[in-house]
Amino acid sequence: MYRNLLTIRDMDRAQIEEFLDLAVEMKSRVLSGKPLPDMGRLTLGMLFFEPSTRTRVSFERAAHYLGMRIANFSQPGSSMNKGETLKDTILTLRYERLNGLVIRHRMSGSPLLAAQYFTGPVLNAGDGMHEHPTQALGDALTVLERKGRLSDLRVAIVGDVLHSRVARSNAWLFSKLGNEVRFVGPRTLMPAHGAMLPANIYYDLEEGIDNADVVMCLRLQKERMEGTALSSIAEYAKLYQVNAWSLRYAAPDCLVMHPGPLNRGVEVDDLAADGEQSAITQQVENGIFVRMAGLYWAFGGKRKSRSEAPRKPAAKPKATKTKAKA
Ligand code: NCD
Repeated sequence: MYRNLLTIRDMDRAQIEEFLDLAVEMKSRVLSGKPLPDMGRLTLGMLFFEPSTRTRVSFERAAHYLGMRIANFSQPGSSMNKGETLKDTILTLRYERLNGLVIRHRMSGSPLLAAQYFTGPVLNAGDGMHEHPTQALGDALTVLERKGRLSDLRVAIVGDVLHSRVARSNAWLFSKLGNEVRFVGPRTLMPAHGAMLPANIYYDLEEGIDNADVVMCLRLQKERMEGTALSSIAEYAKLYQVNAWSLRYAAPDCLVMHPGPLNRGVEVDDLAADGEQSAITQQVENGIFVRMAGLYWAFGGKRKSRSEAPRKPAAKPKATKTKAKA
């Protein structure tokens, strides 16, 4: 049996916890050089129709650790540039006998569409302004490691919430686990349907990060902005930048996070981004382990099934030995 990883909204608390346990296990195996599941018979299609550094590289690293092969696609190099629809692209990849897909696309809901035409797991690597589930899971793993718990925390997500799939996935994840989630930013960068998302909205930075245990900074996504959402970047930075000054309002041991890419000097300054409270590089590294967990989980792997390697969806149940990977 395979599973799609499309949204955090559709996961329940137990699934999120199972997933994080799996990521912890993957991380300890990689760091201690213990054997990892061998998924070497599987080829993963990587469809990145929007720019990506961290997500793309960490999915590739994750696949490499699990021994998988990768087939890369991006819009400029594929037939989508010749007018082919996403549906036809997905059907083509299905009959090219790929086993799973990782997809990033500017259109919200595109991974769900892909899942309808593909046979095998589809993993959402960011769809428009909708969700970015593996980012949120990696962020959760980082918070767990740094804070020692994943509940009863005040999590402030600051900046361009309107255009952020990271904000949406994290709001679902942290609220499902029993934390207080706050969206902080200017009115023009807040979703109009904010009330439907599990977060309290603050337009004032000091109030929004008051006593926060975690402050997640978001980039201004200018590529998605229509019209004049901001009067000036300098004014935005003055009102909403996460820096030593604004962090005085947060809890003294507050964690500073950012999904990247950073626009230093805008949403966050150097001191906050590189200081002791920052977890930004740890978020990047944990991205690999949650994506390993994601691939293993999506192909039907379960926690504690060490002797049971994940199988191709159509294959008959059969136990195989785990094998060490470099
Ligand atoms: C984010 C994304 O693409 O949604 N980055 C990421 O995946 N690490 C956030 C952004 O682009 O600002």
